[in-house]
Amino acid sequence: MKKIKVDLGERAYDILISAGITNSPIKELNDILGERKILTVTDTNVSEIYKLHISQIIDSEFSIFQAGEENKTLETMGKIYHDAVCAGLNRKSVITGFGGGVSGDIAGFAASSYMRGIDFVQIPTTLLAMVDSSVGGKTGVDLPEGKNLVGAFWQPQIVIIDTHFLQTLPKREILCGLAEIVKYAVIMDSDFFDLLEQNVDKLINLDLEFYEKIIAKCCELKAYVVKEDEKENGLRAILNYGHTFGHAIEKEANYGEIQHGEGVSIGMSIAADLAVNVRYMQKEDAIRQENLLKQLGLPTSYSNFQPEKLFENMSSDKKKQDSKTRLILPSQIGIASLLDYITKEDIISAIRGRKN
Ligand SMILES: NC(=O)c1ccc[n+]([C@@H]2O[C@H](COP(=O)([O-])OP(=O)(O)OC[C@H]3O[C@@H](n4cnc5c(N)ncnc54)[C@H](O)[C@@H]3O)[C@@H](O)[C@H]2O)c1
Ligand SMILES: [Zn+2]
Repeated sequence: MKKIKVDLGERAYDILISAGITNSPIKELNDILGERKILTVTDTNVSEIYKLHISQIIDSEFSIFQAGEENKTLETMGKIYHDAVCAGLNRKSVITGFGGGVSGDIAGFAASSYMRGIDFVQIPTTLLAMVDSSVGGKTGVDLPEGKNLVGAFWQPQIVIIDTHFLQTLPKREILCGLAEIVKYAVIMDSDFFDLLEQNVDKLINLDLEFYEKIIAKCCELKAYVVKEDEKENGLRAILNYGHTFGHAIEKEANYGEIQHGEGVSIGMSIAADLAVNVRYMQKEDAIRQENLLKQLGLPTSYSNFQPEKLFENMSSDKKKQDSKTRLILPSQIGIASLLDYITKEDIISAIRGRKN
């Protein structure tokens, strides 16, 4: 088992990672839960496969919502509050987010606000949630006007990661998680990038022992960033590498035909090209990133959208400040920074370069 500490002073917590960790009672989890009332928030897919399984280690009531990003809404929140009241949850109770990023985000936001805030536990079941959304305390829901527009920073008490859950995850969802994993390596850790490059077969074949290792690495990297900049006033922005372009593509595809991780993969490809074009990064490094993404089976180009439209979408991204477009670009594999001097022409040209 791997244990990673997210060092946030009095809000510090551990991430436990192990294949099969949820097959038997988890002492560290039980120490936190004690005799308290628990409500587990999960979606219909995860509930169908794993409700019985998780019930064997957590004595909990359930609040189950229809799976899908389209249900990460205030309406679902209302149902969770209702279920919490019906289950008799009080200020000492605990909400568990069990599932992918949608379950975690919505459960966390419910925990942050129910009775002005109660304890929260994360048990992620998608690769994306294991390496990204379950760590760092960002919670929230979407509004009709845009994604993640309402939310709170609300750190969990513990995160339990069982790689066995990946065995039932659709391949496309695994790929989306892999895009985020490549992202961590490119922006923060060249040795980690080497490791990924040398083990593409293990990644494709879902070697769970290897996954345990790389999930732990990603959690360590994210824990470091979150410790340095919990509320995203600076460093944490590097985690948005590839995302400004990715969001623009997802938005143009009307959040459906292109998944988040696929958008991020294309976005990182555009960002790396841009970094090369403005002579910030060597071409060889961009080629290494491209090769790794392609070998994993991730897209690095798009066909259906107009480059100018994608640029427009970027300009309405909520992460943008003032009138400048601020972008995370790598200077080499393992290092990235926030740049604010890239021109509109350079950006559009890089976007155009990735159109098939
Ligand atoms: N809070 C953060 O810091 C943060 C970071 C990144 C992304 N997010 C959010 O995460 C969400 C995306 O998360 P996601 O990709 O995990 O989506 P998701 O929660 O919708 O899960 C994807 C699909 O996989 C199914 N599923 C989950 N676990 C499964 C398993 N083990 N076996 C079979 N099927 C399973 C789900 O039911 C769903 O259909 C977005 O809403 C995004 O905004 C949050
Ligand atoms: Zn992402």
